[in-house]
Amino acid sequence: MSIAKPPAREFEEGGSFVEDDPFVYHAGFSESAPFWTEADGGAWVVTRFADTRRILQDPGTFSSVNQTPEGYEMEQPLLPSFSDPPELQKYRGILLPSMTSAKVAPLEENMRVVCKELIDSFASSGHCDAVADFARKYPIAIFTAFFGLPQGRSEEFRQCAHTYLHNSPAEREVAWDRIRGIVREQIELKRSDPAEDLLSAIATGTIDGELAELDVAVNLASTVFLGGLDTLPSNIGWSLRYLADHPDLRHRIAAEPTVIHSAIEEFLRRFSVANPQRRVTKDIEVGGSQMHKGDRIKILISNANRDSAEFPDPMVVDFDRSNNRHVAFGAGPHRCLGSHLARHELEVGLELWHEAIPDYRVVQDEPILYHRGVLAMENLPLEWEV
Ligand code: HEM
Repeated sequence: MSIAKPPAREFEEGGSFVEDDPFVYHAGFSESAPFWTEADGGAWVVTRFADTRRILQDPGTFSSVNQTPEGYEMEQPLLPSFSDPPELQKYRGILLPSMTSAKVAPLEENMRVVCKELIDSFASSGHCDAVADFARKYPIAIFTAFFGLPQGRSEEFRQCAHTYLHNSPAEREVAWDRIRGIVREQIELKRSDPAEDLLSAIATGTIDGELAELDVAVNLASTVFLGGLDTLPSNIGWSLRYLADHPDLRHRIAAEPTVIHSAIEEFLRRFSVANPQRRVTKDIEVGGSQMHKGDRIKILISNANRDSAEFPDPMVVDFDRSNNRHVAFGAGPHRCLGSHLARHELEVGLELWHEAIPDYRVVQDEPILYHRGVLAMENLPLEWEV
């Protein structure tokens, strides 16, 4: 028996510098069966937790290759993101050993130094733009060191990363080409002179016993960089904004730093910023909706992690929530490779921020602009007494 296709709904996928909060916009689509939208050549939009987990865990039916809308194809695929098993595991095999929790732990000292320097640069002024002055600068600084860029190239790389985040699509494209250029140059250098860093691991990585092709190595390295570029700053921004409006939670973080461990999980769940896409490989029913081979899917993890069927009182940020099995980092074979780095940076960031600035508020008369895509704030004006 075939299932009738429900009427299409309007759903805006992308958009930069928009004035409405993307989480509020997405909330209008919560807990519904997968629905069809005509936007960007058409796609299913998936919002429920159970449907999300099922799709993410079944790469045979829900492919990651060709996941972008028609017209948005990339000259070089983001790898491992745009691949399916068995290639996927070969690509991840190159990256995984360098991104474990044990590999990330030694970065903590640098995280503390960078965080402290950034916070010291604005703490005594009584205000800052928490996105531009902190949430974006901190992860980029850590990543360039983790990556293994030489001193001279780090600053240039950081500039390109900021241009990529802040500017128009045309400027972003130029910055992206420059980033890939630096990555390619460094991989070529590290092939003959490897060190103990992520770029060297990628440069010397093998697939089926052979050195990975240069293009593959560049695609892997660029994707790892891109994976953390928007996501981590966005999550820091949303967490600080929520805490600015919730003094009880803020005070608990300052008084009881051990709670930060579960606090960041709640913020990852409540503000899930990355929404992946898939392409259906055969006709299949999901959550009562009939999908067809070739259909594109937009998975709203932002909504799945607020599904009341999985999380009681999902809108409440509860540091004592039990069974917080959110999928902010995805699930299944494409699960985020940067989750250890992200969690460590979030913990250190929240700890040092509240040690230096325990009380703060959102500046009321400065508008906040947002991005859809990765759900993010462009700016977050905060102020405090000094
Ligand atoms: C709060 C921060 C972050 C969030 C919410 C996040 C979220 C995600 C999600 C949902 C996926 C799965 C995409 C899919 O299923 O197609 C993913 C994949 C990935 N992430 Fe993250 N991420 C974060 C930070 C990072 C960082 C810091 C890095 C790099 C250092 C990173 C690198 C990657 C990579 C390389 C993949 C691709 C994995 C694959 O396709 O096999 N992420 N991330």
